[in-house]
Amino acid sequence: MNAPVYVVLLHYPMRNRIGETVATAVTNLDIHDISRSCRTFGIKRYFIVTPVTEQHRVVGRILSHWQRDQSKEWHPDRFEALARVSLVKDFEAVKEAILEAHGEAPEVVLTDASLQPNAISYVDYRREIENPKRTKPIVIVFGTGWGISEIFYPEVHRILAPVYGPKDDPGGEYNHLSVRAAAAIILDRLFGH
Ligand SMILES: C[S@@+](CC[C@H](N)C(=O)[O-])C[C@H]1O[C@@H](n2cnc3c(N)ncnc32)[C@H](O)[C@@H]1O
Repeated sequence: MNAPVYVVLLHYPMRNRIGETVATAVTNLDIHDISRSCRTFGIKRYFIVTPVTEQHRVVGRILSHWQRDQSKEWHPDRFEALARVSLVKDFEAVKEAILEAHGEAPEVVLTDASLQPNAISYVDYRREIENPKRTKPIVIVFGTGWGISEIFYPEVHRILAPVYGPKDDPGGEYNHLSVRAAAAIILDRLFGH
């Protein structure tokens, strides 16, 4: 595969439980677990997006702890994963960084637990991006809170189908995964072997 792939975890604009657009808080679990999945599946950089200054202070401290030389020596696997995390204020900063690195704006790929119109299956999207002629950067966007607000949709070029459990599950179509689990499953489906 020749296309460089990036991951974004959005904390704004998110939906809350009554559908309002809000900023959510960054969790330590999401920093660590998603960075390990990104490292495992060859993601170039994992961008954590939050506009909240106080969150930058807290998350910045966590990242600088794990990105220092002593962590590299004592926890090399964790260091290697966390070394590819960037904390940014908004999605514009993500697009600018990718444009600067590759001279081309990324294809923005949304993930969602609900089925959206024109959603593409993992098999089809994997086939598409495995084409060696395909070099346009890709950014896969994951949400927090109650999911990504519709005001983000103008940024989106492609939508991946939801992950579901077994077809004949007597418990119905419950598929509300943690974002960490969803990220690991989706990256495995697209890039694992
Ligand atoms: C809505 S947030 C929920 C965050 C939750 N507070 C947590 O603990 O992770 C979950 C995000 O994970 C992804 N996600 C969750 N379940 C999914 C599914 N079944 N299929 C695809 N993506 C899913 C989407 O990116 C979604 O925006």
